[in-house]
Amino acid sequence: VYDVIVIGAGPGGYVAAIRAAQLGMRVCIVDDWEMDGKPAPGGTCTNVGCIPSKALLSTGFLFEQIENEAIRHGIKVGKPEIDVEKMMDRKKGVVRQTNDGILYLFRKNKIDYINGRGSFVSSDDSGYVINASTSNSDNIRIKAPNVILALGSKPRALPGVPFDEKYILSNTGALALKEVPKNLWIIGAGVIGLERGCVWNWLGADVRKLEALPSLLGMADESISKEALKIFTKQGLSLTFGVKIEKVTVEDNRVSVVYQDSDGKAQEIWVEKLIVSIGRVPNTSTVDGATVGLKLDDRGFIEVDADCRTNLPGVWAIGDCVRGPMLAHKAEEEGVAVAERIIGRRAFVDYDEIPAVIYTEPEVAWVGLTEQQIRSTGRKYKVGQIPFMANGRARAADETLGFVKVLADADSDEILGVHIIGAGAGELIAQAVQAIAFKATAEDVGMMCQAHPSFSEAVKEAALAANKEAINF
Ligand code: FAD
Ligand code: NAI
Repeated sequence: VYDVIVIGAGPGGYVAAIRAAQLGMRVCIVDDWEMDGKPAPGGTCTNVGCIPSKALLSTGFLFEQIENEAIRHGIKVGKPEIDVEKMMDRKKGVVRQTNDGILYLFRKNKIDYINGRGSFVSSDDSGYVINASTSNSDNIRIKAPNVILALGSKPRALPGVPFDEKYILSNTGALALKEVPKNLWIIGAGVIGLERGCVWNWLGADVRKLEALPSLLGMADESISKEALKIFTKQGLSLTFGVKIEKVTVEDNRVSVVYQDSDGKAQEIWVEKLIVSIGRVPNTSTVDGATVGLKLDDRGFIEVDADCRTNLPGVWAIGDCVRGPMLAHKAEEEGVAVAERIIGRRAFVDYDEIPAVIYTEPEVAWVGLTEQQIRSTGRKYKVGQIPFMANGRARAADETLGFVKVLADADSDEILGVHIIGAGAGELIAQAVQAIAFKATAEDVGMMCQAHPSFSEAVKEAALAANKEAINF
């Protein structure tokens, strides 16, 4: 008998398990992911998400730098070639290191880990009985008064077009290609479409994207979306908006996509590989929740209140399988908060302070409200925007694309949102997260001394610019 059983060892589940153990609870975590026949905790994030995708982005960007940028620094190298097998082996190594790191953390925190599928069997006044079925067909029965469901999500397929992972790829297949395809089309120009598109574009594939919406990155600040479109188009990514996909078939080792373009004209294309990245759906069918009466919402997510409580007493749900952004760090924060709530502590996740980062080059990152969101409320605001061209470190590094934009309340000067497109935006956004969490004003951020020369100075200058006090622009 445990105090807590966690089902799912992605960033939501494994972090919840560690925090619960730190707080003195007896914890068992059940996760079914295996890689090359070995237990592979870490979920989507570690195995087919954040970690491997960033490993490939690093390789792709390095290749691009050697191919196109080195010469600008006076470095002469021959035309680079990519050994895709080696690139994939390195990625696999990074993933395995991360799996092993999580296994070590389980041992360190005295957490029992079962590599298997967990499902509800029954419940009574003293808790929930969970069956963990392992890959060698053992069935292990465990019981606890508290269960944390961190079941994650899986890729959404086009209706009637299942992934075959050979021609029609989800992100999983797109992370495991054996060679650079000549042409690669991507349906859905969201986060995965952009990140995966970058890698194969840098490595020489002809990458094109078909997007249903009329514009790029609808959820981002409007000026960031416009700048991103300008930059990515210049980099050679072809983006077609307003399409309606009609039919996808595989014939003669090629994929045919029939779609209607934004003028309503029928088009057909033939491609070597097709990635479908049109969002993800919660992974809620794995635990036999109906046996104990677990409620889902109308979109298929596990129904939870603001504190991640499900309709069942003692059963909590976190991460991608519940409402909110599908981000690893959101899952982690919910995991920590739920562990604290189980022992009766008050814990708070501020969903307005969750940063978003898209790991393209340049990176795109933001936190807080977009300009269009503020405008729609009628609130008065001011804007400070500084291009990286006005930043000494950016010029020295030849990384002058993009800008930092700070939005602040017109009267109180409180920072409401920070939006960055530029090199290292994913790290720079940390400054903005802290500022927003501490309810800092633009003046506060503008008064802080930043090292020179550094990209961080652009954030300071944008904050100064919100009050028309920028020095270098
Ligand atoms: P998951 O990571 O999906 O983990 C759930 C785990 O539970 C899995 O191991 C699953 O097999 C297991 N499971 C489910 N049901 C059962 C059961 N009944 N019994 C046992 N085990 C079960 N987010 C970011 O913040 N930054 C990024 O850069 C980023 N990049 C991404 C790139 C890609 C290609 C993808 C696909 C996603 C990316 N994400 C990123 C999103 C991120 O991976 C998810 O938000 C995050 O993994 C969600 O964590 P989770 O713990 O809720 O679920
Ligand atoms: P997404 O929601 O980011 O993008 C999906 C895109 O597909 C949208 O632009 C949508 O309009 C489009 N679309 C939907 N249906 C379509 C159709 N029938 N035809 C054409 N276009 C269509 O989802 P994506 O890229 O699949 O990623 C899933 C999730 O994974 C993201 O929402 C994000 O939460 C997470 N993720 C996070 C990353 C990060 O934080 N850097 C990186 C990758 C994924």
